[in-house]
Amino acid sequence: MREATPASHANLRLVTAALVAVLVLLGCRGMPSPYPPIHLNPNMDYQERYDPQEASAFFYDGMAMRQPVAGTVARGQLVIDHRLSFGRDDEGYLLEASPIPVTDDLLAHGQKGYTIYCQPCHDERGTGQGILFERADTPTASLHDELRAGYSDGRLYDIITNGSGLMAGYRYPLGVEDRWAIVAYVRELQEERRTLQAEREARQ
Ligand code: HEC
Repeated sequence: MREATPASHANLRLVTAALVAVLVLLGCRGMPSPYPPIHLNPNMDYQERYDPQEASAFFYDGMAMRQPVAGTVARGQLVIDHRLSFGRDDEGYLLEASPIPVTDDLLAHGQKGYTIYCQPCHDERGTGQGILFERADTPTASLHDELRAGYSDGRLYDIITNGSGLMAGYRYPLGVEDRWAIVAYVRELQEERRTLQAEREARQ
């Protein structure tokens, strides 16, 4: 048998110490402690900043949180005209017709908006054969089926604003007038298709 040398004793002690250290460290994981954590590197743990609702000796009213400047309106909360902003009448019903008169300029603006924000999924003609349908087999509504063609202007505006089912709302990239312009353009797409279809049927 080999005799234990001082070197192998030292090795044994090292291994035992390592094992104990691992066990101790494992024991630390996930254990709740009533004491504040030890910050070995306190970088950024303590910041010169106010937390919400904190008191402040700096401001004259003693509060760290400031009031909005008088007269400012938070994003999305500017409602000059209820019908225009929400597409609903005073009782909350969706408007039958757009509150904005349709002009060539409005239609041109609507076409631009449609091309950017709707065409990728609903395709150029609004038949719902866009990228989601093509690549992921996702049923995308046709804007020409009986149901959608029968929607009121207010409903179309509401769908663009808040989304519907799988479709997201577009109220952030599109302002109120942009959305009404797209409604006008979708109406024109639908009208064009109805006319073409009627012509085709008349020829047959
Ligand atoms: C990222 C793809 C995508 C974009 C972009 C998109 N849609 Fe849709 N849209 C869909 C899908 C998918 C549906 C079907 C939703 C469902 O049935 O759950 C839908 C449904 C609709 C419907 C029918 C909703 C209903 O309740 O019947 C209308 C109307 C519509 N979209 C109009 C638009 C208009 C206008 C735009 C541009 C502002 C637009 N969509 C942009 C994917 C999209």
